[in-house]
Amino acid sequence: MRLIFLGPPGVGKGTQAKLLSQRYGVTHISTGDVLRSEMARGTPLGSKAAEYIRKGLLVPDALVVEVVVRAMNGAPKGFFLDGFPRTLEQARALDGYLQTSGIQVEGVVHLRLGLDEIVRRLTARRNCAGCGELYNTLTKPPRSAGRCDGCGGTLSQREDDTEAVVRKRLVVYEDLTRPLVTHYKSAGGSLFYEEVDGSLPVEGVTQKLVEVLERCCVPKPTFSRPPAL
Ligand code: AP5
Repeated sequence: MRLIFLGPPGVGKGTQAKLLSQRYGVTHISTGDVLRSEMARGTPLGSKAAEYIRKGLLVPDALVVEVVVRAMNGAPKGFFLDGFPRTLEQARALDGYLQTSGIQVEGVVHLRLGLDEIVRRLTARRNCAGCGELYNTLTKPPRSAGRCDGCGGTLSQREDDTEAVVRKRLVVYEDLTRPLVTHYKSAGGSLFYEEVDGSLPVEGVTQKLVEVLERCCVPKPTFSRPPAL
């Protein structure tokens, strides 16, 4: 199974891609997670990416495409792309990769959410430094303030989750990523495009996505007629 999760910052792409990748046994490729891990390790890519991420801007296409191609090559059982592609240039690079590798992406799921709710969710998001678990002080608070329920790690706020940077990310989304909606809606061929309401509770969004995937991707068992006796 190979899918693209499209949608604005904070809509729940990461939350859902993680849950569904576990359910279907495919690799969750989050460009944001990969870039943050490079930043944490202080690699040259991480230092370069940090200059853009802190300001709410997109990291240059060439850097991101290289990272994603490497991740896709290491995901033979399929992948969910979370946060990629984000520009038309990246979408074209993905098309080129798929053509040369003979791999097919089955579809695009577009999660939708209003602006005010995006800002509310992102400014309340907290991440565990130990295991990466996501929390939200409004919708999914930890049992003990500032501590991960699972591993006891410290919870922190991403530096691009302040209201000012979130609003900048939303402007960038409208300018550079929103055009992908039209791109994929009109792609045709065997690629499906489905919209899902991201304002439902997490379980509700998961249920809707599972319905889409079961309908559009998961092969139905075929029953052949038993031989006549
Ligand atoms: P990235 O990490 O990809 O950020 P994003 O796309 O802006 O998305 P988010 O991670 O903020 O949100 P999400 O949709 O995954 O929501 P989540 O599930 O966490 O990218 C960060 C930066 O890296 C970019 O700004 C850019 O600089 C760079 N970058 C990344 N990819 C790039 C690319 N391809 N090209 C160039 N640059 C790139 O949920 C959010 C919160 O809401 C959480 O607290 C969660 O618990 C809560 N929540 C989730 N679902 C629900 C729900 N249904 N109900 C209530 N609360 C919910």
